[in-house]
Amino acid sequence: MINLSWGFVLLLFYAFLLNLDAFELRKGQKTERISGSAGDVLEDDPVGRLKVFVYELPSKYNKKILQKDPRCLNHMFAAEIYMHRFLLSSPVRTLNPEEADWFYTPVYTTCDLTPNGLPLPFKSPRMMRSAIQLISSNWPYWNRTEGADHFFIVPHDFGACFHYQEEKAIERGILPLLQRATLVQTFGQKNHVCLKEGSITVPPYAPPQKMQSHLIPPSIPRSIFVYFRGLFYDVGNDPEGGYYARGARAAVWENFKDNPLFDISTEHPTTYYEDMQRAVFCLCPLGWAPWSPRLVEAVIFGCIPVIIADDIVLPFADAIPWEDIGVYVDEKDVPNLDTILTSIPTEVILRKQRLLANPSMKQAMLFPHPAQPGDAFHQILNGLARKLPHEKSVYLRKGEKVLNWTAGPLADLKPW
Ligand SMILES: *[C@@H]1O[C@H](CO)[C@@H](O)[C@H](O)[C@H]1NC(C)=O
Ligand SMILES: *[C@@H]1O[C@H](CO)[C@@H](O)[C@H](O)[C@H]1NC(C)=O
Repeated sequence: MINLSWGFVLLLFYAFLLNLDAFELRKGQKTERISGSAGDVLEDDPVGRLKVFVYELPSKYNKKILQKDPRCLNHMFAAEIYMHRFLLSSPVRTLNPEEADWFYTPVYTTCDLTPNGLPLPFKSPRMMRSAIQLISSNWPYWNRTEGADHFFIVPHDFGACFHYQEEKAIERGILPLLQRATLVQTFGQKNHVCLKEGSITVPPYAPPQKMQSHLIPPSIPRSIFVYFRGLFYDVGNDPEGGYYARGARAAVWENFKDNPLFDISTEHPTTYYEDMQRAVFCLCPLGWAPWSPRLVEAVIFGCIPVIIADDIVLPFADAIPWEDIGVYVDEKDVPNLDTILTSIPTEVILRKQRLLANPSMKQAMLFPHPAQPGDAFHQILNGLARKLPHEKSVYLRKGEKVLNWTAGPLADLKPW
């Protein structure tokens, strides 16, 4: 009885705080320029700073694959398709490979979906190998550096390790033929075999128009304290528990399912996007991979992302001051999530919301069609431009070979 009434008093107290804050949090929601760290570079214009040559490949590497399954256009890995389209008409494109700083090979390695829409990367290594074989025999540029001035979009869960299970991905490692190339990928985790130095971490694809069509008036208060929709357990693939999300999502559920400050559930309501705009904090815990589209959604909807994924490397981390914008919570600290979040001072919350309201921040998370200045396409180009000029040492002597074409699992060596 005592517990119950204390709970009730606490709830009233928070309701009071929230109402007060909801008003203040809205009032204070002006934008703030993203500066400090390297934030200003979000507004850089890549045009004139790099030239990209786009290899022309037979359509079986890209367009035909998409024709077979148009769902790939709305999938969280769709960046590989939109980046191709973007580059074809981008002012940074050059038709003269002799003057190119970067070479791009348009292969859609993640457009292989199960009937349920899950992408399978099993064919990716053979496809990629076949594409590299093709460019290296038809043009002289690959052999000059064995790929060190080439970039590839590899958005799958564990990038160019091409497996959706982490253990297997680690066992495979990055595809041997891509070991000198620059990889543009969604996966980012410090000290992980599937993230090599010099890679560019990008946001997953989230449909821009769809999100925009769900915007609600900014005057509506943020009356939800913590919001999350998604799985807590993946019973089908992780029957024993503890492996999925390294137990972090299970811990969220077990500790906070009855906490009135937490609006959390597995059910995806039709008002999902609207709800995020009515929330102060949005949980972005790891799932099978450390990243998820929730991060993009949280930024677009101005909900402070609570990042629960130890050692995650967030998108464009060299340009975006994520520590100022979001809240990082160690996986082991999930049981204290309520205390951690309720003890953040209001002025800190307000500042995070102002940073989130910055249009350049939102723009950097999106792959809109047509492209717009400052969007994720431009941030990728900025990232590539910052890596120039290439070091002299990447150019091989005539006839010199570094990569091993026969390394890796035998099944990957079969022709595609
Ligand atoms: C590049 O090297 C490979 C393997 O050594 C060779 O087969 C190929 O012909 C070379 N490409 C060109 C364009 O010379
Ligand atoms: C290339 O990899 C294969 C398979 O792992 C190995 O047998 C071979 O010795 C390697 N070649 C070189 C030159 O390292």
